[in-house]
Amino acid sequence: MTQDEMKKNAAWAALEYIPRDTVVGVGTGSTVNHFIDALASIKHEIKGAVSSSEQSTKRLQALGIEVFDLNSIDSFSVYVDGADEINRQKHMIKGGGAALTREKIVAAVADSFICIVDQSKQVDVLGTFPLPVEVIPMASSYVQRELTKLGGKPVLRAGVTTDNGNVILDVHQLAITDPLKLEQQINNIVGVVCNGIFAHRAADMVLVGSADGTQVIR
Ligand code: 5RP
Repeated sequence: MTQDEMKKNAAWAALEYIPRDTVVGVGTGSTVNHFIDALASIKHEIKGAVSSSEQSTKRLQALGIEVFDLNSIDSFSVYVDGADEINRQKHMIKGGGAALTREKIVAAVADSFICIVDQSKQVDVLGTFPLPVEVIPMASSYVQRELTKLGGKPVLRAGVTTDNGNVILDVHQLAITDPLKLEQQINNIVGVVCNGIFAHRAADMVLVGSADGTQVIR
C-alpha cells in the first residue's frame, strides 16, 4: 500500500466522527484533500465548512460544499487536519503546506481536533521535519538570528508567500523535547506570526492510516 493510500484510509475514516447538520473545520494538505473528497459524499448532511487555506476553500467549493467566513461562526465541533509529525502526546509539527497560521486559528475555535495521518508521521520526538515558522517579510533576517540562538538552522522557503502575504522559515536541526515551551518561546520573537508547533492546541484524536487499516488513538 502506498503512503497516499494510507492517507486516504485515515481521511475517509474521519467521516464517522463528523457530527451531521453542523459546520466542519477543514485543514490543508494532501491528506485533507482526501478528506474533502470524503466530505463531499455527505455534503447534504452538513451545513458547510470553515477552511484553513485558499487551496482547501477552492476544493471545497468545487465539490459544492459551502465555505463560511470564520468570523460568522461562534463555535463548531470538529476540525480535521493532517500533520507533518505527531508524537505520543498528540503534539504536532504542521505547516509543510505553509497554511499553519490559519490552521492554528481554525483549530483554536473548534471544540475538538481530529488529526489524520499515515503511519510515517508518528515520531517519539518532534523536529526531524523542519519546523515551519510564518514571519512578517521585513523581520525575516532578525527572526533567523533569533531562531539560530534557540539552536535551530532556519532556511527561507524559496518562492513561497503565505495566504497572509508572509514568508516561511523552515527551522532545521531542532530536537523539540519540550514542545509547549518552544512553541511559546518562538511566538515571543517579534516578527513571528505563528509557528508550526501545535502543542498548546494538540490533537484530541488521531486516525493513523497504515497497511493494516486505520488505528484510532484517543
Ligand atoms: C499544511 C499542513 C499539513 O497538514 C501537513 O503539511 C501535512 O500535509 P500532508 O497531508 O500533505 O502530508 O500542516 O500546512
